[in-house]
Amino acid sequence: MLESTFRTGLLNGKTAFVAGGTSGINLGIAEAFARYGARVAVMSRKQQKVDDAVAHLAQWDEHACGYAADVREYAAVEQALGDFHTKVGAIDIVVSGAAGNFLAPASQLSANAFRTVVEIDLLGTFHVMRAAYALLRKPGASLINISAPQSTTVSFGQVHASAAKAGVDMVTKSLAVEWGAEGVRVNAIVPGPIDDTEGMARLAPTPAARKAVQASCPLGKFGGIEDIAGLALFLASDAGQYMTGTVTYCDGGQVLTMAGALSPSAVQQMLAQGA
Ligand code: HXC
Ligand code: NAP
Repeated sequence: MLESTFRTGLLNGKTAFVAGGTSGINLGIAEAFARYGARVAVMSRKQQKVDDAVAHLAQWDEHACGYAADVREYAAVEQALGDFHTKVGAIDIVVSGAAGNFLAPASQLSANAFRTVVEIDLLGTFHVMRAAYALLRKPGASLINISAPQSTTVSFGQVHASAAKAGVDMVTKSLAVEWGAEGVRVNAIVPGPIDDTEGMARLAPTPAARKAVQASCPLGKFGGIEDIAGLALFLASDAGQYMTGTVTYCDGGQVLTMAGALSPSAVQQMLAQGA
């Protein structure tokens, strides 16, 4: 009964493009895709990070490739996706996970700083989705955006990320509605606090902040990159074929108790310590 959905090699024969896929959570997602048989490409700004990520991914996909491009530049995104499409044909899976973040109370945030984060996270996500559209396998493609808890829960010092990621959630839902008839699925993942990532190094840089974050999770601990990769695998594969328009939390239950994890006093203290 399940043979048609659960084939051996979950992503065998599939092609996957991961924007922002050269470090942290997104690189973990690209690795999971490659380990399960997909042909993968990653894209980010820095050539060295791209080269290192491609070398890492080549352990599972000897044809892994990478592109140095900024998600804020539509033409560059279009070119990278176009080149991957020329190499591999229709694209089955696209992840949009490039992001920028830092702690800054709104009263100290410049207009350019706010714009920068919105342009990377929100505009960048639309760029990746829009440029991919013509190149997708239809029906069958799965698009995954990487959101953040800040899209729904207010954290002190995070107005820029909150505004951007709330937009990412609505891009996800809007495209799910518009592209569903063509058999294109669009979902978002909301990672909770994930250990050993740039995000946590920036947002929970002190032992006290780490303790508060852990305490805010019903499971009482940070997640690992593999936890987010597992959810991405599910959404990308045919196992998730009836999933679209979802914004799914993978956060140890943190969204249920989030208030106070980044309190005004905790943030002021971290900034005073040079965070
Ligand atoms: C206040 C800051 C700042 C800071 C930069 N700016 N860092 N303002 N506090 N810590 C301001 C600058 O002064 C400038 O404004 C504007 O932002 C643009 O800065 P640039 O350095 O010119 O921008 P750019 O080179 O494009 O770099 C983007 C960046 C950078 C976001 C600022 O940090 C970056 O490249 N980040 C990518 C990696 C990253 O952030 N990873 C973590 C993702 S975690 P002015 O006015 O001076 O011109 C995440 C969510 C995690 O997204 C959620 C966890 C729960
Ligand atoms: P990370 O390692 O800093 O990953 C960010 C990636 O995006 C890098 O590959 C970076 O490479 C790339 N990037 C940044 N700006 C870019 C731009 N303008 N154009 C193209 N690529 C760009 O951070 P992470 O902590 O793993 O976070 C990954 C994702 O998870 C983000 O979407 C973040 O919002 C989300 N998230 C993380 C956490 C967490 O606990 N860490 C929690 C919730 C949500 P370059 O520097 O080479 O460009």
